[in-house]
Amino acid sequence: MYRTHTCGQLRAANIGQKTTLSGWVQRIRNLGGMTFIDLRDRYGITQLVADENTDEKTMQIVEDLGREFVIRCEGTVLERSSKNSKIPTGEIEVKLECIRILNRSEVPPFTVEDETDGGDELRMKYRYLDIRRNPVRNALLLRHKVGQAVRKYLDSIDFVEIETPFLIKSTPEGARDFVVPSRMNPGEFYALPQSPQTFKQLLMVAGMDKYFQIVKCFRDEDLRADRQPEFTQIDCEMSFVEQEDVLKTFEGMIVSVFNDILGVEFKKPFQRMTYNDAMSLYGCDKPDLRFGMEIRNLSQLAKGKGFVVFDNAEYVGGIVVPGAAEYSRKQLDELTKFVQRPQIGAKGLVYVKLGANGEVKSSVDKFFSPDDLSKWATHMGASEGDLLLIMAGDRTHTLEGLGQLRLEMGSRLSLRPSNVFAPLWVVDFPLLEWDEESKRFYAKHHPFTSPVASDIHLFDSDPSAIRANAYDLVINGVEIGGGSIRIFDRDLQHKMFKVLGFSEEEAEAQFGFLLNAFKYGAPPHGGVAFGFDRLCSIMGGSESIRDYIAFPKNNSGRDVMIDSPSPISEEQLNELQIKLGSTK
Ligand code: AMO
Repeated sequence: MYRTHTCGQLRAANIGQKTTLSGWVQRIRNLGGMTFIDLRDRYGITQLVADENTDEKTMQIVEDLGREFVIRCEGTVLERSSKNSKIPTGEIEVKLECIRILNRSEVPPFTVEDETDGGDELRMKYRYLDIRRNPVRNALLLRHKVGQAVRKYLDSIDFVEIETPFLIKSTPEGARDFVVPSRMNPGEFYALPQSPQTFKQLLMVAGMDKYFQIVKCFRDEDLRADRQPEFTQIDCEMSFVEQEDVLKTFEGMIVSVFNDILGVEFKKPFQRMTYNDAMSLYGCDKPDLRFGMEIRNLSQLAKGKGFVVFDNAEYVGGIVVPGAAEYSRKQLDELTKFVQRPQIGAKGLVYVKLGANGEVKSSVDKFFSPDDLSKWATHMGASEGDLLLIMAGDRTHTLEGLGQLRLEMGSRLSLRPSNVFAPLWVVDFPLLEWDEESKRFYAKHHPFTSPVASDIHLFDSDPSAIRANAYDLVINGVEIGGGSIRIFDRDLQHKMFKVLGFSEEEAEAQFGFLLNAFKYGAPPHGGVAFGFDRLCSIMGGSESIRDYIAFPKNNSGRDVMIDSPSPISEEQLNELQIKLGSTK
């Protein structure tokens, strides 16, 4: 038998008992006549101790031990003389009576402890060692719990988990596909699904009524902290529903999961905000509502006073940073640099400091009287001690810039604690997005998203004004999920394809299977998909989803552990009838 207890199990109540433990040697400390060994497994750490009373054979093995050796040992549980309140087993230690090395380990390339000396790439290369560390293991355990809680909730309200294929058909919308060549059909390719969107809609036509799946999705897009080329969705679809039904159902799921796992109590219903309000108040479609600092429009007040930068701008707006009137020249220069970075690309940043006794200082006081500036402050709801930060330019970019500046100030002022959660539904997205380069409309969500019924007449006159029956769930400024009510009417679907620039033939070639299915009695339906990795990382208080994925890819989409992607043999290429061009 390898063990009677795990390394996280023994407590004061076990004192005096015999125990057998197995695990990894985390640390060995030699203090005079005593040797302490921290023995680790998934469940915790137990301190083993050998001293002058330990028999010689055991002692010899103890002296041979190294970090990450796998051992089995027997001993007696003793009360510790100096207790460690930081770990659950900290009141006891195990006096070693017998020890066996089950496997040796080379010296690990980084310290396998909570605080490690290993950089990101190194830890990814040896991910199996990284997972031995508490932070990574706990992230995976949290992920497991979230998955279980989601399944429990959805099962309890009659959702059925159904798998859909991974080898599917490449479609032109959305991100780039990952493609897989077919040996049996030379010259033809499967695509890996960016999401099971069309399949879940087919399951609704098939009468399954309520579907979900915790499923891998694949997108060949540029990576960021919250994006991986393969990621997991909690993908859901329901029949005979309107937007309100979907929002209520999944609000219930989020409330239940946060409560089960973190003990957080959310108030229902979640706050809702239109896309237009989100853009004009927060400069983005996924506002972080853990703090205020909304953007205020100053165009009317600030224009027409002879300051050309403002006079020539389409839009002037700003934010009020509470209690930051004391900001130094250096700090303000830093903020100016922040908005001048290429990601924002602003020309500059104007400030107004509202000092004590009504004293107003500004970078533009040549152009504006103290009275003008006080009017701005009143309009923006600022008071003594506050700092106004103001930007000007074209409306869209200026709002986006202010949105990023707002987040930066929120972080600098510690207004974004990771254990506070601010959920929000963003609704009334535009249905279409105009692309200047290709001079065509793209579906903002996807081509199956239905327009708001009262906007359908705009298809012929003003397509860009059509609102979609679509919604996103945002928590703490992260898009956690998105979905829509679908088009289930063939004529409307054709109208949509037409506005997207698909000919009848193209629509038929790409989505014929779905259009065909819609001929046979498609029920009204809608759904949503949540980013499972993102949900887990938000719940765990982290911005990076990598920590919540057992074997993630790096920023160039590589798995540095298995060294993939990698070339394939000439033979495989021949079999697939693929000839490579020059990769230079
Ligand atoms: P969407 O494309 O908005 O919708 O994706 C749903 C959610 O998946 C997460 N997500 C990602 N997470 C990690 N890495 C990525 N590369 C990545 N891309 C997306 C986000 C996002 O909100 N079929 C539709 C859903 C529907 O209409 O029902 C869809 O896939 O959290």
